[in-house]
Amino acid sequence: MKQEKINEIMARVKAFPGMPDTSAKLLKMLKDSETSAAEIEDVLRYDPGLTANILKLTNSAYFGIPSKVSSVKQAVVLLGWKRLLQLVMTMCMSTVMKKPIPGYDLPHGELWRHSVAVSVAAELVVKELKIPNVDEVFTAALLHDVGKLVMGEFVRDDLQQIEEMVAKGIAFEVAEFIVLGTDHAHIGARILEKWAFPEDLINAVGRHHDPETCENRCTFSDIVHIANILGMMISHGGSGNGVETALSNTVTERLDFRISNLEYLAEQTLTGVNKLSDTLLVK
Ligand SMILES: [Fe+2]
Ligand SMILES: [Fe+2]
Repeated sequence: MKQEKINEIMARVKAFPGMPDTSAKLLKMLKDSETSAAEIEDVLRYDPGLTANILKLTNSAYFGIPSKVSSVKQAVVLLGWKRLLQLVMTMCMSTVMKKPIPGYDLPHGELWRHSVAVSVAAELVVKELKIPNVDEVFTAALLHDVGKLVMGEFVRDDLQQIEEMVAKGIAFEVAEFIVLGTDHAHIGARILEKWAFPEDLINAVGRHHDPETCENRCTFSDIVHIANILGMMISHGGSGNGVETALSNTVTERLDFRISNLEYLAEQTLTGVNKLSDTLLVK
């Protein structure tokens, strides 16, 4: 019975839309340090709507650039091309991730808001811990819950059983796994696999709730794990209702992360998200 359900879920992963074309090209470029402004412009040229959104975002309060940026070339100079590619990636993914998600009780735009918050938080964690060469963690953070897009309706169908477990103190994603035989983190990893994402990103998405299962190359999954906790701390404007307890000791030890930093980083995350909200979070 459970195997049947898993098969059904995997069929849905197979049928899940491919990665937006522009994102695929940009992900390749993000990995190549030789990428030039002209090449980025070439990709964006065919998507004027996307270009307009990039410029709007570049001019948002988040980056605090005093003069108005009006071309992609200018944006590359001011933000650096890696940062710019991240923005483009974000805009490309927003269409996929703005849908309402049944089962997880996520209204329109809520998953997107959480995803943006977790990617802002991931950047703050990287900065705080001075971790080098992890540019792509931003993308893993942005997509960490993408599996919810597939799992939503399955969770909804078995919600009563899942909620009964949660009421007994079992974590939601654990209950999800027990009832459905898989969870949104693992399914998210399968989606990234289908999209031919790099291994580190697949690993980070797949293990964001159980990072202690990671044995090597764990930096990405550890960062996304902490960033997700920070994202949960600021959700619904609440103080997080003790989500800090979900923080893995293995991760804090591996990254030498101090739990006392959570409160401060959550505040910074909220400030960052608010600065982006005009451009990124409006429909
Ligand atoms: Fe999650
Ligand atoms: Fe999450």
